[in-house]
Amino acid sequence: MRKKIVAGNWKMNLTRDEAQALTKSLAQRLKEKATLNQRVLICPPSIHLSDAIASAGPDGPLEVGAQNMHQADSGAYTGELSGAMLLSHGIRTVLVGHSERRAYFHEDNHLLKQKVDAALGQGIEVVYCFGELLEERQGATHFEVVATQLKQALFHLTADQWSSIVLAYEPVWAIGTGVTASPEQAQEMHAFIRQTVAAHYGDACAQNVSILYGGSVKPNNAAEIFGKPDVDGGLIGGAALKADDFMAIVNAAG
Ligand code: PGA
Repeated sequence: MRKKIVAGNWKMNLTRDEAQALTKSLAQRLKEKATLNQRVLICPPSIHLSDAIASAGPDGPLEVGAQNMHQADSGAYTGELSGAMLLSHGIRTVLVGHSERRAYFHEDNHLLKQKVDAALGQGIEVVYCFGELLEERQGATHFEVVATQLKQALFHLTADQWSSIVLAYEPVWAIGTGVTASPEQAQEMHAFIRQTVAAHYGDACAQNVSILYGGSVKPNNAAEIFGKPDVDGGLIGGAALKADDFMAIVNAAG
C-alpha cells in the first residue's frame, strides 16, 4: 500500500552551518517521535548532500534526496551531477522536473524522460514534479497539460518500474506564492492523475503510487490538504526551511 511522504525541497537556500543545524534538528526530532507512519525526506542543495547524509545516517527516519541530476552517466557537462555520483554518497532519491527546472533551465518532458531513465537505471527513486501554469488553469487546459507531462516523461516505463516513482503535483501558480490549491482542487487533480495512471497501467499500479501535493503547504493548511483521499503527503518549499514548521507539517501527515 502506498505511503504518505513529506519531502522538503530546500532549493538554493541555507549555508553549510544552517543546513547542518536544520538536518540535525530534524533527525533528532524524528528519532524522538514514537511512531512514524510516513516517510520524511529532505532535498538540500547538492553541495550539502554528503553532510546531510552523514548527519541523518543511512537508515534513519530522515531520508536525504537530491534536487536534480544529469541524464548522462558521466562526461563533459560542467557543473552537473550524475546518478552514479549521488549513489556513491548514499543518495537514493532525486527530484526530477521541478517547475523551476522547467522554467529557468528549459527542461521539457522529453529531457525529463531521459533523466527518469538515468535515475531508474542507477536504482535511484524519482520524485517526478509536474503541474500546470496559471494561464493553463484559467484556460481550462490543466488536465490535458498534466496528462501530457505524465505521458511524455513516464508512460514508457514498465509497471514494475513504477515502484520507484513518486508523483508530486505542484500547480505552478501555487509555488512560493502563498496561494495554495484548495483541498478540493488538489483532490480533483490527484484523482485525475491516479485515473490517468490506472488507465495505462491498471488499478494496482495506480493505487500503489504516492501522489504528493506541493505549492505553499504550511503548518496551518497541511492537515486539510493531506486529509484528502488521493493526497499522499506533500513537497514543501519555504516551510521546509524551519524545523518547527517542517515538523508541524510532518505531524499533520499522520
Ligand atoms: P513552496 O514550494 O512550498 O515554497 O510553495 C514548493 C515547491 O516548490 O516544491
